[in-house]
Amino acid sequence: CGITARIGRGDAVDELLTGLENLEYRGYDSAGVAIKNGHGLAVHKREGKIDQLKSRVEQSPPEGSMGIGHTRWSTHGPPTDANAHPHTDCTGSIAVVHNGIIENHEALKADLRERGHRFESDTDTEVIPHLLEEHVDRGLELDVAFRRMAEQLQGSYAIAAMTDEADAVYATRQGSPLVLGIDDDCHYLASDVPAFLEFTDRVVYLEDGDVVTVTDEGYEIVDSQGDPLDREVRTVDWVAEDAEKGRYDHFMRKEISEQPTALAQTIEGRIDASEEGEPIVTDGSEAASRGDSVSTPGADGVSLEEFPPGTFADVSAIQFVACGTSYHAALYGQQLLARRGVSAQTFRAGEYAMSPAPVDDDTLVIGVTQSGETADTLESLRRAAEGGARTLALTNVVGSTAARECDDAMFIRAGPEIGVAATKTFSSQVASLGLLAERLARDVADSESEDSRQLLAELSTLPETVQRVLDETQAMEVVDRYRAMDSYFFIGRGVAHPVAMEGALKFKEITYEHAEGFAAGQLKHGPLALVTPNTPVFAVFTGRHTDKTLSNVREVQARGAPVIGVVSEDNREVIDTVDAALTIPEAHPDVAAVLANVQLQLVAYHVADYLDRPIDKPRNLAKSVTVE
Ligand code: G6P
Repeated sequence: CGITARIGRGDAVDELLTGLENLEYRGYDSAGVAIKNGHGLAVHKREGKIDQLKSRVEQSPPEGSMGIGHTRWSTHGPPTDANAHPHTDCTGSIAVVHNGIIENHEALKADLRERGHRFESDTDTEVIPHLLEEHVDRGLELDVAFRRMAEQLQGSYAIAAMTDEADAVYATRQGSPLVLGIDDDCHYLASDVPAFLEFTDRVVYLEDGDVVTVTDEGYEIVDSQGDPLDREVRTVDWVAEDAEKGRYDHFMRKEISEQPTALAQTIEGRIDASEEGEPIVTDGSEAASRGDSVSTPGADGVSLEEFPPGTFADVSAIQFVACGTSYHAALYGQQLLARRGVSAQTFRAGEYAMSPAPVDDDTLVIGVTQSGETADTLESLRRAAEGGARTLALTNVVGSTAARECDDAMFIRAGPEIGVAATKTFSSQVASLGLLAERLARDVADSESEDSRQLLAELSTLPETVQRVLDETQAMEVVDRYRAMDSYFFIGRGVAHPVAMEGALKFKEITYEHAEGFAAGQLKHGPLALVTPNTPVFAVFTGRHTDKTLSNVREVQARGAPVIGVVSEDNREVIDTVDAALTIPEAHPDVAAVLANVQLQLVAYHVADYLDRPIDKPRNLAKSVTVE
């Protein structure tokens, strides 16, 4: 879900709706706004996408300079008009929007019912305006009533509330994101910065427990006791155009095309180049042989400002926690580490949060999360921290909850990603993990190799290599041949395995066709039973394990399945064996799988486009799942 609020000069409704459109990636099954219009609160809410709310609102646009809004991803109750936010109290004079889950809502609802409150929706949120109403009826000032109400809630939430009387919006957060945007004559509240990025780039990232009161005059942040807090105002360096579609039909297509730029940002200043333009990766021994100074930081090839050499010297165990696409990036990272002699484990965050793996002070738990707000991942990181582990957030969002709660953060710098299906952030996560793996390998295992040197060199030219894939892709031809089949399988070995899983995830998310990714060797242990002439198999080749993967290709071809090889343009043997090829430039195997993934992104996109799917907002999904 996404929440927004706008307080300032002029009518609020247009900017609120713009904010909601910019947050629609967080949920889009219903939406609503409440505007204080001088006579009371005008509440408009509606099942369906924001467009539907917009057409309703446009029939009689509410006037008023202060309002709150919400776009919903259902957790309690189906997406109906009644369940859409804002929710109001018995008299309709208090309106509330909420993102998160109120875990004790059933008990609160039962108590409120006993005291005569009636509820219109199935949501957990609706208890909030009723609790506020009780405190106000008892004579508390609204700001105090708001803080008392927050004390009664258990769970995760970002809440914004307004009444028909006070000239203020009250908001707080606990475990769900909330950002304040500050313009000269206007203030905004939102779940995420893109909501108001076209109006202002000055933001305050609110912390858990902060309560903010926003009026025409400005804002005040206090703690749960009402004591004032000072929070830094920061300027975000994303520009509004980054969060707009531009000439593309879909954000996903734009974000696939942006990968060279995103990757250039990811690696900028993080790989040391020698005089010859080659990365130096040998702790100075090469430089020493040339008589160069060896004491420069990062003379070992990676130059991570946030993690100088020795940062991880105490680490003896590494765990990754992540969800969805980020989970696949984490699996990739695990393999990069393994090749450098460092063992790591990767966990699905939803499971880890329930039964965490053992940790101690020497364990580093890395949360891979584009948004930095995925509830399962945050909960896993919190559990790990409780166990004494050191935590690190690998994320795209500066100021996100993961970045702020973890001991360390590394930013992947991919720029805002709006399409629900993650694309450029996967590539930037893997490139970041490549760099982090080098630092960890040197710190933890004192390992370095010629392979590292080559990998870093190829990471430094990855933006150009990805551009070649984008320019020369054969994805359209492959899609024309294979778009009307029963099921789609994706196989690979080594780092091609997480890419096969990612290829299948992308495919099913946006085409709604059945797709599964497997380790190529696993195929014969069950999935082969599903293979028919109507189940194309995408086989990802990286340059490692080629013969074994080719055997698997022949196994499925023997059952009549067409095989599309994603393979280096130089690999004649594979190209001659498969039924169709998506070729990639010759590359280090750990880079080749990223290139292959770009081809698979394009395949998924073109099939979904052909099927006329709502590519940026696939049904039932949300980009940022802030509930467990
Ligand atoms: C949701 C999205 C996925 C995403 C996953 C993890 O499931 O639909 O696209 O990969 O969350 O998101 P994160 O922000 O933690 O990377």
